[in-house]
Amino acid sequence: MSVHPSPERPASTPDTARPRRPVTTHDVRAAKGGRRIAMLTAYDAPTAALVDACDIDIILVGDSLGMVMLGRGDTLSVTVDEMAHHCRAVTGSVTRALVVADMPFLSYETGPADALRNAGRLFREGGVRAVKLEGAGPYLPQIRALVDAGIPVMGHIGLTPQRVAELGGFKVQGKTADAARRLLDDALALERAGCFSVVLECVPAPVAARVTAALSIPTIGIGAGPDCDGQVLVLHDMLGLQDRIAPRFVKRYANLAGQVTAAVTAYKQEVESGAFPGPEHVFAMPEDELRRMDADGEDDTRE
Ligand code: KIV
Repeated sequence: MSVHPSPERPASTPDTARPRRPVTTHDVRAAKGGRRIAMLTAYDAPTAALVDACDIDIILVGDSLGMVMLGRGDTLSVTVDEMAHHCRAVTGSVTRALVVADMPFLSYETGPADALRNAGRLFREGGVRAVKLEGAGPYLPQIRALVDAGIPVMGHIGLTPQRVAELGGFKVQGKTADAARRLLDDALALERAGCFSVVLECVPAPVAARVTAALSIPTIGIGAGPDCDGQVLVLHDMLGLQDRIAPRFVKRYANLAGQVTAAVTAYKQEVESGAFPGPEHVFAMPEDELRRMDADGEDDTRE
């Protein structure tokens, strides 16, 4: 490969560099090579509001929804209806972050008309301002049609979970020179098709660095090393909210599963022992009203 990463990226991301108004796809593009872009998933109103309040740039309503929120084994069964429902919950509580929706399996592969109709639903019913779709080559016509219609598209290459069977499992992609070259070609094709950014998932760090250097749009890495223009993680993984098998690239910033377990166990014990509710959790009633109530009750008994 002839493309080499640039080492001159600023190490910090001062808050003053981040816009307070709603983040747009133009802001994301403009961050190329400068401050790093922080992106996380969210699927419901309370977590989206928390993430947004931390000035995360992009909130992805990922089709990881199927595994993280709906208890399924993969992302393939997620429907456009389900995505629209969760997108509406997220966009209703976000005021700043750019909210991007994943286009679920078979919502775009069947051609530009289906892609437009389904992305249109995520825009109109879900309220998102961009979509993400997995793959390149065969889907470039769909991407062009969406971009031409005014729907910004984030690409996604490398490990594409909707193709996990074809890829032979959740494996690092682009590990040979040929595979890495194909990845770079796909990334360039996505840029030419009009994508405003591209997710690189599970790609060797030096390959991601070269793809990042070759593109004029930002790359957002997940398991793709530090040289991408931004990073994305699944919120529930980084919060340690569930005991999914966490891939190597996940950093756990909290152990919320442990905290939830401790809180629920304490609640159960206090309910069983009578320690909850305490005096501070109950509503009082004036003594004379109580006496009247009891007196009425005595009358009832006599009848
Ligand atoms: O669905 C998802 O959460 C994703 C991210 C992991 C990039 O596609």
